Amino acid sequence: MKFFVDTADTTDIAEMAATGLLDGVTTNPSLIAKSGRKFVEVIAEICDLTDGPVSAEVVALDHATMMKEAEVLRKIADNVCIKVPLTIDGLKTCKALSDDGTMVNVTLCFSANQALLAGKAGAAFISPFVGRHDDIGFDGMDLIADIRQIYDNYDFGTEILVASVRHPVHILQAAKIGADVMTAPPSVIKALFNHPLTEKGIAGFMADWAKTGQSIL
Ligand code: E4P
Repeated sequence: MKFFVDTADTTDIAEMAATGLLDGVTTNPSLIAKSGRKFVEVIAEICDLTDGPVSAEVVALDHATMMKEAEVLRKIADNVCIKVPLTIDGLKTCKALSDDGTMVNVTLCFSANQALLAGKAGAAFISPFVGRHDDIGFDGMDLIADIRQIYDNYDFGTEILVASVRHPVHILQAAKIGADVMTAPPSVIKALFNHPLTEKGIAGFMADWAKTGQSIL
């Protein structure tokens, strides 16, 4: 499973990249607003921090303007992935860009049928939002399992990018289902490393090692 980090905070991205476990970055207009930085400038900086796909989202709602915005964004770097919303205009844009060899991430997916449409439009990634689905009383993971089945039935090349991840159990469940990618805030990715028994084990080993009076180096 690929790990993307869902943030426009370049300090956090650099920290994640240093682990060697980071495969890409996703942003959205809300994350860009939170960064307080210029969109094109921050995407360029993120693209320098990772070789993986960096999702940059169009903000127009019509196909013609989406194409113009995508033109600006895809010029920033080779690893820019254009993010479009799951609407008719978004999917028209997805088809045009994908046919032209540009990676597209179709976002705001809340149904398996929407994911089927994105697959047919040639999306590189489909982003089903599990957390926001859970928020309104549906199990977001049912959506991931349905999309997995549909994409496998028809051999779609579109990767399932589990988004709106809120906690480590989302990542565990997505991995068990066989999602291709997950994107999560830095705090959720960091939480994956932690286990109280690991901490306790290290403390015990260190205490016993100190008694030996030895050093390795
Ligand atoms: C994904 O690409 C989105 O940026 C993100 O996962 C949305 O998450 P949220 O529902 O926590 O805002």
